[in-house]
Amino acid sequence: MKSLSKMLVIVVVLSVLLVSQAVFAQEDVINIGVLQLVEHASLDDAYRGFVDVLKDAGYEDGKNIKIDYQNAQADQSNLVTMSERFVKDKVDLILAIATPAAQAVAAATTDIPILITAVTDPVMARLAESMEKPGTNVSGTTDAGPIDKQLGLLKELFPEVKTLGILFNSSEVNSEVQAKQAEEIALELGWEVRFGTITSVNDIEQVANSMAGKVDAFYAPTDNTIASAMPNLAKVAEEKKIPVICGAPEMISAGGLATIGLDYYKLGRQTGEMAVRVLKGEAVPEEMPIESLTDTDLIVNLDFAKAIGYTFPQEILDKATKIIGE
Ligand code: TRP
Repeated sequence: MKSLSKMLVIVVVLSVLLVSQAVFAQEDVINIGVLQLVEHASLDDAYRGFVDVLKDAGYEDGKNIKIDYQNAQADQSNLVTMSERFVKDKVDLILAIATPAAQAVAAATTDIPILITAVTDPVMARLAESMEKPGTNVSGTTDAGPIDKQLGLLKELFPEVKTLGILFNSSEVNSEVQAKQAEEIALELGWEVRFGTITSVNDIEQVANSMAGKVDAFYAPTDNTIASAMPNLAKVAEEKKIPVICGAPEMISAGGLATIGLDYYKLGRQTGEMAVRVLKGEAVPEEMPIESLTDTDLIVNLDFAKAIGYTFPQEILDKATKIIGE
């Protein structure tokens, strides 16, 4: 009898230990859902920066965290399904990369902490009440770029420009904001402005072609549709010998002339640092100001320049952070 109850005690103690171990093991792993709109270099870089910082802070995928990375391939219904899956799986934190991805996850949950990156204007996109104090479960980093410096560069390279053609997809709120800002700056510089709006990658050639005789230069902001259409835009621009200034460095490698833009890897790192504070319970998105990046890089593309018969002044080449096509 005595040994039987002893056995019972041992069995009970053992099973309690086992169960609690299992519970702990589950709680130990932090689940992070990542939703990226589409594959393009800026967004890939931001994701890489985010993961690297988490790793530096001791959060390593496959060890104490589990990252569920989803790429929506620029498809709206994918964005919705993937966001809903994260909510159903009760992930602990979500990283959303680019405006449409951020809007999809924010629509799916008002509880799970969301960090965003590469989002031009979180307030206009209705993700946050203000930059200083989001007041929602969404904080992170904006990639609003130095459009004034980008158009200033155009003026420096081509002082004779009189009419600027601004290309963008009118259904991307991030682009709408930038197009408007670019227009204001262009007018201040004494230029005339024409808009070329597209709704899909397929429109770009026709729109650029129809503007070709009427504009002296093109400006393309960080528009997710134009980013995928850069080779098509470059084809027309090179043929008609029109310079293209863009909103982000990667667009230059894909067929633009030059830009002064942000380093998306750094932006992703900054977002990762915010995530670490959330994971440690030191801060909540509601109260975390949305951050931005101030240092910029000058990127020039010699191949594109050659195709339009342009030679960069030496002092620009000396200042360039990255020269494409040497
Ligand atoms: N800023 C864009 C957004 O808010 C995303 C983006 C970042 C982007 N870098 C880019 C788009 C480069 C096109 C090209 O959605």
